[in-house]
This record gives sequence, structure tokens and C-alpha cells, in this order.
Amino acid sequence: MCGIVGYIGKEDCINPLVAGLTSLEYRGYDSAGIAILNGDSLKVLKDEGKLSRLKDLLKKNELCSNIGIGHTRWATHGAPSKENAHPHTCCQDKIAVVHNGIIENHSVLREDLIKKGHKFSSETDTEIIAHLIEDFYEGDLKAAVSKAIGFLKGSFALVVMSSDNPKLIVTAKQDSPMVLGIGKNANLVASDIPALLGQTREMIIMDNGEMAVLGQDSYQIIDFDGNPVNKAIAHISWDQEAAEKGGFEDFMLKEIHEQPVAVRETLRGLIDDDGTVNLKELKIDSSRIKDINRVVIIACGTSYHAGLVGNSAIESWARIPVELDIASEFRYRNLLVDDKTLVIAITQSGETADTLAGLRSAKDKGAIVVAVTNVVGSSVTREADGLIYTHAGPEIGVAATKTFTSQIAALYVIALFIAQVKGRLTNEEIKKRSVKLWDIPELIKQALTQEENIKKIAQKYAKKPDFLFLGRGLGVPIALEGALKLKEISYIHAEGCAAGEMKHGPIALIDDDCPVVVVATNSATIDKVKANTEEVKARNAQIIAVVNEGNHIFDGVADDLLFVPEISDIFSPIINIIPLQLFAYYVAKAKGCNVDQPRNLAKSVTVE
Ligand code: G6P
Repeated sequence: MCGIVGYIGKEDCINPLVAGLTSLEYRGYDSAGIAILNGDSLKVLKDEGKLSRLKDLLKKNELCSNIGIGHTRWATHGAPSKENAHPHTCCQDKIAVVHNGIIENHSVLREDLIKKGHKFSSETDTEIIAHLIEDFYEGDLKAAVSKAIGFLKGSFALVVMSSDNPKLIVTAKQDSPMVLGIGKNANLVASDIPALLGQTREMIIMDNGEMAVLGQDSYQIIDFDGNPVNKAIAHISWDQEAAEKGGFEDFMLKEIHEQPVAVRETLRGLIDDDGTVNLKELKIDSSRIKDINRVVIIACGTSYHAGLVGNSAIESWARIPVELDIASEFRYRNLLVDDKTLVIAITQSGETADTLAGLRSAKDKGAIVVAVTNVVGSSVTREADGLIYTHAGPEIGVAATKTFTSQIAALYVIALFIAQVKGRLTNEEIKKRSVKLWDIPELIKQALTQEENIKKIAQKYAKKPDFLFLGRGLGVPIALEGALKLKEISYIHAEGCAAGEMKHGPIALIDDDCPVVVVATNSATIDKVKANTEEVKARNAQIIAVVNEGNHIFDGVADDLLFVPEISDIFSPIINIIPLQLFAYYVAKAKGCNVDQPRNLAKSVTVE
């Protein structure tokens, strides 16, 4: 996973390239680089580390050009280093390539090219593309790229330029995202829409098997066989502001605060004002849903935790068996799905390789596949039978927050929809619940008012080396997600577990240096949660409890209380996660961590 950008136009390309890369840095930040045309030859500037290193290089080298390509890398083949940073060039340094994806047959191709005399200077799979194009080059860059991609196995979004063809850049796309930006005096290409918003709002979303040739004031799209493809230009109305920090210190904090709006927008896309469920993008005949006898949810990371909540809602309301699987496991199982199975793939980015692979396997077996995603035009949207969009807006912070709560909101609506189609709830019962969903944005707002209290508590515990998160029932997904948020951004070891399971192992970890966070809001099992809390307290643990405002049941048991407004148990996860997101955020800030770009993690993981 990487971010790529390309520009050809009348102006200097440096600013649009750097602006694009800045917006794309969430996709990877192991190295960054650009290639531009400098007179008759290519000039490549690149360095290991974040984009700021490249920006320093650019300050030292005053460059100006009207054609260039850029890249920000998340390492897959070859360690993060200057040598492995993109762009990669061929032997004669006349062709430069940036790439997002994985070339699976790179070793074989490399051996062949070495036999032909090509010399490699990196360990990356990408470099073979530059040499392969060089090998086929006979004066026509488009033709050479076209021939080269015929030999590539795997996933790629490529942007290629050549000093011998100074008036064009060539791109190709297979299984990695790519968008064209059609400007007045320039044409651009990038991995996503926000990277281009500073230049144009007219975009073309490329599909698999397509190439594009961009000139200063022209563009041509063809398929991999060379046939012209006519594509509609989409006008993007997103506000550029929406992709920026908007006054908050970090994207993550901004996105935590955007949750009331994100959830409201998500609901707005799925429920009409009168409470009727209206899944506009589902595009699957209700009779097919009526016939299903099983639901399988697949997802990774935070999306998996949203799936756990969806599991309970679907089972409770639609009274149909639900299985939940981690996508990287599901894809390799001997699958027991058929045309009576509804598979729900949850992925905020729409690009997670494991989730996409799981979705394809399920489709191959005839299952009905629905994707829940936040990114219009992402890979998953082209492969699923039906779509449910969360309308959370762009999420830049690597740790998912607003996409998580929006996914949960969408899953509640899906649960109601299945219940409706299968006749498990009456229209009145559906409406009663969907009307309740509209209370959630306001309750999230109320939960956010506790920020200062949570900040103080977080600072008190920031030096602790280990945390245990406990919950029962719908508290379990929130214990898991609370622990995941904490470890992702603060690098503190944290485990989430079902409170009843604690006595079978995790309790051995407890001492006065391992605080326990308990999800302890009102539910049928609150007394059991309290009993488990007493057990860890007896072993000297400090207790932080998420409780409902006005509930004193944990007074004297918990050392610190994180208050949330009350809501019925089934909806509680979407509220209870709010203080734990803020807790993780303020612990990480107290430790001086970069919350938006935690080490070793990336926003979308397009490799296995
Ligand atoms: C990465 C992200 C996580 C996310 C997971 C699944 O690990 O850092 O925040 O939960 O991928 O991503 P998806 O886009 O499929 O929801």
C-alpha cells in the first residue's frame, strides 16, 4: 500500500505533487520521492522516512517542471530505505515508475531481466516494471507500458514517465485504486480523490484493466487490449476542508469529534425521515434476501469489532444465525457458503486485500455478497453484489474512529432490513427501533462532553505498561476495540477479553501495574461485570469503569469513572466506545506519540 500521484500541465508540478503526497501520506510513510523532467533528463529526489524529508530535499534543490510523478511508500518488498523508495528508474534513467500494489511474479521477471543485462539497484518488486518497460521501449511509451503490464501478475496502480516522451504520462490499473483528475490546464492522477481536490473537482475513477495516457490538455483511456474506453467524468463536491484538520491538533481528534455528524449522515443514507429502511445502493432483490438462512460477516481490525456488534443486532432482530470471521482466516477456509448465505464484508477503506479475497471466495461459491464501506469507487464497490455506504467522510487518522461508529450504525440498519424482509419484526417494531437510531448522534455528542475528565484520567495512567479491557455481552466488542485503539496509538500492551473468560488466564497478568478498564454500562449482566471487577480489584488492579451517568453501582469499586449517557443495551456499543477512543488518544498524547500515523500501521492494507 502506497500513495501515488502524477501531474502534467502548464504550471510547475512540484506544488501539486507535494500537496497530493501530503494528502496521501496516510497510505504509507516509509519513504517518499518524486521524479520530474529536468531539461532533457529525469531528476529523481527521494529519501527514507516521512514526506518532510523529501520536502527538505526539495528546498535544497530548486526544481521546476511541468511534468512529474510522486510516491509515498508503505514497505512490502524491501525494507524502508532510500534505495527502495520510489520512483524507480530503468538502466538508462530514462523511464521512471511509481507503483502501488504487489507484483507477485517479480522474482521470475527479475531473473529474466538480469539475464538480458539489466542492473537493479533496489530490492523492490516495482523496479522490475521500469526495466520491463525499458526492454519493450521502441519510442512509444504507451505501447511499452502496455506490453510490460501483460507480463505482470498481481496488483498494480502505476504511473510512468519518460524523458524521451516529455509530453505525456501513462498510467495503468489492476486491483489497486486510481483516480484521474481532469483540470483546465493540467491533468493528474492519484490513488484517491482528496489528493487531487486542490487542482480539480472533475474526476474519473479508473477500473481494473484500464490504462490512461495523460497530456497537458488531453487524456485517453484504453483497456489493456488497446481498445478505447469511454468513461464519465464525476464532479466531486467534497469540501477540501473536510480532508484537513479543521482546527484540531490531529486528524484523529477531529474525527472522534465528527462522529455525531458521521453517524447522522450514515443513517440519513439508509433510513427515510419516517423511519422506513431504504437501502438505495443495495441493488439486490428482496426475494433473495428473504431466502437466506445464514449470514456470514467478514472483516479485519476495527471493522471486525463493528462486525461483532452487527452479529448481535442481526441475531436479535432478524433471528437468523450469524457467523463472524476474520477475513484473513475466512479466505483460506473450505467455505460452507452457498446461494442461501448472505456475506457481509465490512471494510472502511474498501481496499483491504484479505477482505476482498474473502468476498471473492464467497462469491465463487454463489453467496450473496454485500459490502459495507466508506469509500465510493473503492475496489470492494466494484466486486460486491450490493453496497451499503457509511457516509463518514474521509478518515485520515490511521486508527479508525468515525468509520467504526458509522459501520455500527449501518449494521443496525442492515439488521432491521433483514428482519423486515424475513418478517421477523413488524413494520411498527422496525420503525420503533429506527427512530431510536436517530437519538444516537446526540448521545455521542453528550459522551464527547466528558473529554476534559477523560484527558485527566488518561494522563494519570499514561505510564502504565499493560492494560486489560473487560466487558460482557455487547461490552466485549468495545473491550476489544478499546484495547486495540490503545495499543495502536500509544504502543502500550493492551488486551481485551470477555470478563467471564478472565479467570481462565488473563487474571494472571493482574497486579498494581496493570490497570483494568471495564465496560460497565447497564445491561442484563451488569452484576456479573461488577463481580469480575471485584475479583481484579482484590488483586490490586486499578479500575477504570465506563458507566452510565447517575449510576453509582461502581462507586467504591472503580478508581476512576468514564461517564456515558444511557441508551438501551443493544445500542450501547456505539456510545461506549467514545470515552475509550478519547482515553487512548490522551494516553498516546501524554506519551508524545504520533496518533495520526502510528508506527508500522497503515490506513488500508492492500497486501496479505
Ligand atoms: C488497517 C487499519 C485499521 C482497520 C483495518 C481494516 O489495519 O489501520 O484501522 O481497521 O486495516 O481496514 P478496513 O479498511 O478493511 O476496514
